[in-house]
Amino acid sequence: MLKKSIITTCLVLSSLTYATAQTTMCFKQNHADLITIENTKLDGGECASKKSSSDMKKEGWTIADIKMTPNSLGTDFIYVFKKETSLENVSEEVLMDKLYKRIETEKAAKEEAAKEALFVANKQAGEKLFTSKCVICHGQKGELKAKGVSRPINELDHNEFQAAIRDYNVGNKDGVMAILMKPYANMMDYNDIKNVYTYLKSINE
Ligand code: HEC
Repeated sequence: MLKKSIITTCLVLSSLTYATAQTTMCFKQNHADLITIENTKLDGGECASKKSSSDMKKEGWTIADIKMTPNSLGTDFIYVFKKETSLENVSEEVLMDKLYKRIETEKAAKEEAAKEALFVANKQAGEKLFTSKCVICHGQKGELKAKGVSRPINELDHNEFQAAIRDYNVGNKDGVMAILMKPYANMMDYNDIKNVYTYLKSINE
């Protein structure tokens, strides 16, 4: 998807550029000195024996191509100059900048949507587990002290939640009431904990 939109935008950009690019061809035959060619008046095209390559540059032309063919009298030069016309105010750099910004914005929006989708999926899985297995002792919103001894689990942060479940699983908690909780801790993996936690956060905001 993203790739496709980059390609489309690049095509649009390049066709804009080509549609408004102006080119002209100038030449110099049998020129003896490579160093002076810059400032030598060129024949043909927009140069018309009046303008050198450096004159052309001053007028906004850029060199698109140079062909040099040595012969017995010197070197034949053919210059191809290019100039953007109606895009004068909007340089390619500005257009590319806009394009990159748009790509960034699209990317950020997609990442945001993916995160949101993941959050919703986690929350729903958490709701399913919590309402079917935990509510009875911990309350609809995780607000109860289970059997009068636990902390309200909607007040735990993610680390505390994980550590508490792990404590039951590794046998760090073996009290009378802990025996009630242990089987539920045993059936929860990392994702279950994260999902229940996400669900409790979402209903207790
Ligand atoms: C039969 C009742 C019961 C059920 C059902 C139950 N728990 Fe518990 N839970 C307890 C008790 C009792 C404690 C406190 C045990 C102790 O003394 O350590 C506890 C403790 C906890 C703690 C640690 C709280 C603290 O203070 O550190 C977490 C987290 C927890 N339960 C999550 C859950 C989740 C999630 C579920 C559902 C998958 C669940 N419990 C189901 C009874 C239950």
